[in-house]
Amino acid sequence: MCTCRLACNRFRMVLTACAVLVGSSVAFAQAGKPVSFINDVAPILKENCLACHDAKKKSGKYDMTTYEKILAGGSGGEPIVPGDPEGSEFYELIVTTEQRRMPPRDKGEAVPQEKAAIIAQWIKEGAKLDAGVDPKADLVKELRIRWKPPVPPKVYPFPAIVNALAFTPDNQHLIVGGHHELTVWEVATGKLVKRIYTRAERAYGLAFLPDGKLAVAGGRPGQEGDVRIYDIQAKGAKDAEVEILDGVNDPAVLVKHLFDVDDSVLCLAVTPDGKTLAAGGCDRAVRVFDLSNGWDKAKLTQTVENHADWVLGCALTADGRYLVTAGRDKTAKVWDLQAKESVVTFPEHKEIVYAVAVKADGSAGFSVGADKQIRTWKPNGEGKQVKNAGGHSDEVFKVVAHPKQPLLATSSADKTVRLWDANNLTSIKQLTGLGDYVYAVAFSTDGELVAAGSYDGTVAVWKVRDGSTVKVFNASPGVTNPAAPVEPGKTKK
Ligand code: HEC
Repeated sequence: MCTCRLACNRFRMVLTACAVLVGSSVAFAQAGKPVSFINDVAPILKENCLACHDAKKKSGKYDMTTYEKILAGGSGGEPIVPGDPEGSEFYELIVTTEQRRMPPRDKGEAVPQEKAAIIAQWIKEGAKLDAGVDPKADLVKELRIRWKPPVPPKVYPFPAIVNALAFTPDNQHLIVGGHHELTVWEVATGKLVKRIYTRAERAYGLAFLPDGKLAVAGGRPGQEGDVRIYDIQAKGAKDAEVEILDGVNDPAVLVKHLFDVDDSVLCLAVTPDGKTLAAGGCDRAVRVFDLSNGWDKAKLTQTVENHADWVLGCALTADGRYLVTAGRDKTAKVWDLQAKESVVTFPEHKEIVYAVAVKADGSAGFSVGADKQIRTWKPNGEGKQVKNAGGHSDEVFKVVAHPKQPLLATSSADKTVRLWDANNLTSIKQLTGLGDYVYAVAFSTDGELVAAGSYDGTVAVWKVRDGSTVKVFNASPGVTNPAAPVEPGKTKK
């Protein structure tokens, strides 16, 4: 049984995405054309070998991260004899019926026949490297550079999970993370008005900068992750009523690429003055940028590695001094960005901590997790728990702070959103209307509305004041969700 739904969802999504939208990612050698190392062989090695033969593990002292190192071999010497696959240990170990196979029999499936054949053919043709590729180039990075994101389908064949959403600064629109794109919806009507294509398969964190540019953290699970800044006001082509912005290639839309890594970036936080940006994810690190001279002159100031596992959530105090993080390692932590040291570890959840929030002045930290609890604690000092509160009947995925009042919103696997008094953690309201796990929740910038998005692509918007529903719609273009609740004043078909 799976204990981490967030992780499962990531993998479930990868599978669906590959099957339905992307197609097989493995490039098969075309008949008559010589096998390309970088396009045909490297993807097979990445999928079947690198888990044990990367720069860290180097099983058998064999590092396979570059072409040069692959040819050099491990403790047993050169494993590839160009022109002679049968005489190459490299190939023999893949197809052997003997006990010693690669991957080792007890550790993984054999490499599929058609892929082994590609490797044999490559060796037979001389085990050459493609022209223009550096023999010392890191293969994973090289593959990432070459990978081209698919154009999102006009109409989705299945709903995409909503992992992140945000109101535009004027609160007229909602930005929702889709499949290789961000979609923009009119709050009042639930109408799709804009699509911003992105390299990232999914967005996990969205934050507007003071000048209206949008910072987005995201990635392609297990493959890559990045933080990029977009100008969503840029001009795009109109397709019927919907404007299309090319955030993959158009430098007027994709205005800044902050960084990229080997796996998803799962959380993003920006101080209200826009001067400090923090983003963390599957590589366990949080990268902190100084944007005080403008996002175009963003500077990486430190890389905080304070968790033993994925960083799932992050928040900053308004002055940019303290970074609060949530970890799959079952802790919430506080890092002093000025002193560059860990201040507090909050261990009370004892299960995965999915998200954190912090009072702007740093006087209280809040965390939620798989233990179904919201907890508040002292971020400075010993990290002592002040209070915890239940209410959600399943795991709690997000917690966000209201921009003006001492209010918090949480979203949960129990399909609901809850509003809490941040001062005493009393539950104020339960907001219903979504039909699946609720992964994303956000307040409007004026604090009047709260929106949430769920596993089945549905987005709901409520009034904070009385909890009444403003709008419910499915944020996957072309998908109308039959499970979506009936809107007030309308009758079910
Ligand atoms: C689950 C881990 C694992 C995977 C996956 C794996 N290997 Fe290995 N590999 C090992 C270990 C452990 C050794 C050292 C023991 C041995 O040589 O049998 C090794 C050794 C080797 C060696 C001998 C190195 C030397 O110089 O002694 C070669 C060649 C090799 N692997 C190739 C591959 C290839 C090609 C793949 C992918 C198709 C692969 N391995 C996948 C664990 C793995």
